[in-house]
Amino acid sequence: MTKPGRKSGGNTKPRNAFYAQSGGVTAVINASAAGVIETARKYPRHIGKLYAGRHGIIGALTEDLIDVGQESNATIRGLRHTPAGAFGSARFKLKGLEQNRAEYERLIEVFKAHDIGYFFYNGGNDSMDTALKVSQIGEAMGYPITCVGVPKTVDNDLPLTDCCPGFGSVAKYVAVSTREAALDVASMARTSTKIFVLEVMGRHAGWIAAAGGLAARKSGEAPQIILFPEIAFDKAAFMARVKASVETQGYCVIVVSEGTRYPDGKFLAEAGTRDAFGHAQLGGVGPVVANMVREELGYKYHWAVADYLQRSARHIASKVDVEQAYAVGKAAVEYAVQGRNAVMPAIIRKSARPYRWKIEPVPLSAVANVEKTVPRNFITADGFGITAACRRYLEPLIAGEDYPPYVDGLPDYVRIKGKPVRRKLKSTFKV
Ligand code: F6P
Repeated sequence: MTKPGRKSGGNTKPRNAFYAQSGGVTAVINASAAGVIETARKYPRHIGKLYAGRHGIIGALTEDLIDVGQESNATIRGLRHTPAGAFGSARFKLKGLEQNRAEYERLIEVFKAHDIGYFFYNGGNDSMDTALKVSQIGEAMGYPITCVGVPKTVDNDLPLTDCCPGFGSVAKYVAVSTREAALDVASMARTSTKIFVLEVMGRHAGWIAAAGGLAARKSGEAPQIILFPEIAFDKAAFMARVKASVETQGYCVIVVSEGTRYPDGKFLAEAGTRDAFGHAQLGGVGPVVANMVREELGYKYHWAVADYLQRSARHIASKVDVEQAYAVGKAAVEYAVQGRNAVMPAIIRKSARPYRWKIEPVPLSAVANVEKTVPRNFITADGFGITAACRRYLEPLIAGEDYPPYVDGLPDYVRIKGKPVRRKLKSTFKV
């Protein structure tokens, strides 16, 4: 295990730390940043300066570092209630050491120049893979660095953790919006709109779509249909369910995951572009499904794509989610100063009712590139709803509110100064 700090003349000399946000941002990723920063400030004997990458790992590669020490305690406290990525995020995949040695050599060059001995990478699935690779750099290139992943992803698809910070707040937003829009369409259905479709995120995992199911208090209530990526889309069964719902209840609310696929694996809606990780950009399944319904059944519809609204909705964040996001940031720093390398703080559910949880380290190698999808026993036999077990799992994650302060009727979010660290290297790097 990497030892914290570096011995010099019998004293442990603190080393600097690097923090970066990665991948799709969330309503609470900045709460994790606050956890990292506030905790790092408590360990001056281990951690010297804390730098953040401007736009994630790209900031490291291009030596574009933000001096977090220049940010006031009030700003850092304010990050806890501010959505999105205050330091800028990036979707950037580091290839294997053999495939792209230049990138790793550049990272080491920048880390060395700034005496960075701790690397905190706040991201999802792909980002844990990047964090793992960076942790291997130390060994492969003879540079000591303690590397800890800080979990986040609205997709909730990291393994070994009860849930992923960011998910609880999206889940709450989607459940709230579904319940509210369902009341609207129920009011209009007699003479006007009969169908409301809400498209939600979740590329390969239907956790967010499942959360839409929380809007219903009892069976038969909206949403009458949830379409999951885990269940191949059966058009005939879907249409029959829509028709039955309209005929018995007068309307039908559908929550559809952007990752819903046909039985042959093709997405119902694919935008045609791919990100740095090769993932298809999704979006637009909501109108696709709504149109299908009108063409087959002739019902008037409305649709909405929750898109970035769902992942930035800090105003209606889950209190549990905010607390967990902060806790994983705090734990990451504590692990690092204890010399734990290549780990990720995971949330462990101790009990469901009341919901009790703790944080424990899990190896990055067990997390990287593994996707946790919705298990079959969380989806009803017909494939269109959530089971009681799923509800039991989800409910605690959306519990409680943590409203941001409001000024002039609007949430009062903070912005960092983002003061750059003076560059030390002559060489530049193109990404
Ligand atoms: O990070 C996960 C996620 O929110 C997915 O659910 C969604 O498909 C994707 O990010 C969107 O990514 P981007 O903002 O890069 O288009």
